[in-house]
Amino acid sequence: MRSHYCGEICQDHIDQTIQLCGWVHRRRDHGGVIFIDLRDKKGLVQIVFDPENLESFAHAEQVRNEYVLQITGIVRIRPDGTENPDLATGAIEVLVEKLSVLNQAQTPAFPIDNYAEVHEDTRLRYRYLDLRRPEMLQKIMLRAQIIRQFRHFLEQQEFNEIETPMLTKATPEGARDYLVPSRTHQGQFFALPQSPQLFKQLLMMSGMDRYYQVVRCFRDEDLRSDRQPEFTQLDIELSFVDEEQVMSLMEAMLRDVFARVLEIPLHDPFPRMTYQEAMQRFGSDRPDLRIRLELVDIADLLQDVEFKVFAGPANDENGRVAVLRVPQGCHLTRKEIDDYTKFVGIYGAKGLAYVKVKDIQQGREGLQSPILKFLPDSAIEGILKRTQAQSNDLLFFGADKAKVVSESLGALRVKLAHDKGFIEHGWKPVWVTDFPMFDWNEDEQRWQALHHPFTAPNTNDVATLAQNPKASLSRAYDLVLNGVEVGGGSIRIHQTDMQMAVFKILGITEQEISDKFGFFVDALKYGCPPHGGIAFGLDRLIALMTGSASIREVIAFPKTQTAHCPLSNAPSIVDQRQLRELGIRLR
Ligand code: AMO
Ligand code: AMP
Repeated sequence: MRSHYCGEICQDHIDQTIQLCGWVHRRRDHGGVIFIDLRDKKGLVQIVFDPENLESFAHAEQVRNEYVLQITGIVRIRPDGTENPDLATGAIEVLVEKLSVLNQAQTPAFPIDNYAEVHEDTRLRYRYLDLRRPEMLQKIMLRAQIIRQFRHFLEQQEFNEIETPMLTKATPEGARDYLVPSRTHQGQFFALPQSPQLFKQLLMMSGMDRYYQVVRCFRDEDLRSDRQPEFTQLDIELSFVDEEQVMSLMEAMLRDVFARVLEIPLHDPFPRMTYQEAMQRFGSDRPDLRIRLELVDIADLLQDVEFKVFAGPANDENGRVAVLRVPQGCHLTRKEIDDYTKFVGIYGAKGLAYVKVKDIQQGREGLQSPILKFLPDSAIEGILKRTQAQSNDLLFFGADKAKVVSESLGALRVKLAHDKGFIEHGWKPVWVTDFPMFDWNEDEQRWQALHHPFTAPNTNDVATLAQNPKASLSRAYDLVLNGVEVGGGSIRIHQTDMQMAVFKILGITEQEISDKFGFFVDALKYGCPPHGGIAFGLDRLIALMTGSASIREVIAFPKTQTAHCPLSNAPSIVDQRQLRELGIRLR
């Protein structure tokens, strides 16, 4: 039906007769001449209707926005002074000889040509219209290009894409499962995979050597701008490798994709940081290295002060007292400080003490703070020196359990940087390594896996691990890009006794092991190779690469924050007959 795409037409086509198909982006009537911007996936081109062509002109007068047209016309240079430098096809236009209206369109729920701030629910309800907007089309096409490039790289490295089941058993990745009832085994349920973790490890045990999959994962968890109930991983696993090999190959892959798709050279090699250092300096295991602000520990300076708020955590082995220095922060208003105090409250901080450094030369006299009276000269001197405070700075203090201080000041660091423009331009990837193997769950009074229970500890000795779970580190690595965790993986446990020891520390009973992972533990006994891998959150990565505020912007048909699809209205009620067939009665 067409000879070219609208967005492709250029001066090379002048005087050629061409056929185009597309949507009416905008129509303008100008003193007897009608102009239409015709749009398809490659862009816009201006088509012109001359009143002397009676039939086409009469049709063109009836045409409205979003009508679907097919035209035959001649490409010509635009008259002097009417070129549009903002448009790729702005030097030319197409004089229409013949017009066919292929379809009419109702007035769209929101304008496609002039995008105002439309509520996201409306955009998702009419997603097919939303996706027509050139920005959205480009994001979705860029997504396809990025995925194609990943596949290309992996294929060259002798990876095979292998599908794993969607109807399966629970994989422990820490979220709730989406369950699917079985008709043929009434009262029993499949779980949709939270990740293909167990299957990709089984593929290594099957001798597949190098596996990857662009795969949908399902997690029923609280949603945010960077979480969807179904999302896509680039899932990867390799045999006979250590963490160095996995990390360097993955870096090469990301550098390749960034260079080819965005023409951005990423750092070579990516910097690395231990979990411990990340928490210490940035209060987060996904540090945004574009932000220079850092946390500074001061517990040792405050052990003997009378101010209980500081002295308590300073003398507690699980406590932490730290400072965040805000350059030029002296100018923060009372209200801003109150708002930041409320903000850290979300992370459990009971307050946010501060000191304004009006004039560093004057020592104590140059400071202003409600807590000044509680601090002896020696502590003040030590704090100013260690934080390298300068005139006009503000110091924020956190004192509590280490977890609360790290999380609250870590989040405050990022928020301040966004609010005050402390974020540098560019791309800052970092590998975070040496995670603790286990995390103490206060509520349930038991150890839980920081990653998943198949992650190898950095000792091969079962007894060492069992003796001191708290101090054990894992062979896991996360890739963080500009403060976003875009991927995570590890070297896996490949020996049965170690796997059983880890299950035991996690408090999983023999019965549970055999019910949940019996097939997997069995498989370990038949010659499992050393192996490891990683999974990237493709939606997150692509959101970053396209400068999108939310992963919903790069998913064609995403769900809302309440895991609902406004377009199809899923989830929805099913009829009684279906439930009866499944042996389900609703309460
Ligand atoms: P993990 O649970 O860290 O690891 O997931 C890997 C990556 O997937 C992305 N991600 C999400 N993206 C969008 N919405 C979600 N709800 C969501 N949850 C996770 C993140 C994350 O880094 N099987 C292991 C990987 C491995 O060990 O190889 C796993 O799934 O970017
Ligand atoms: P209070 O003695 O509770 O009135 O607190 C005095 C100052 O210390 C106030 O500015 C509080 O915001 C701050 N503050 C209280 N608890 C903490 C805490 N755990 N960490 C940091 N600052 C705190």
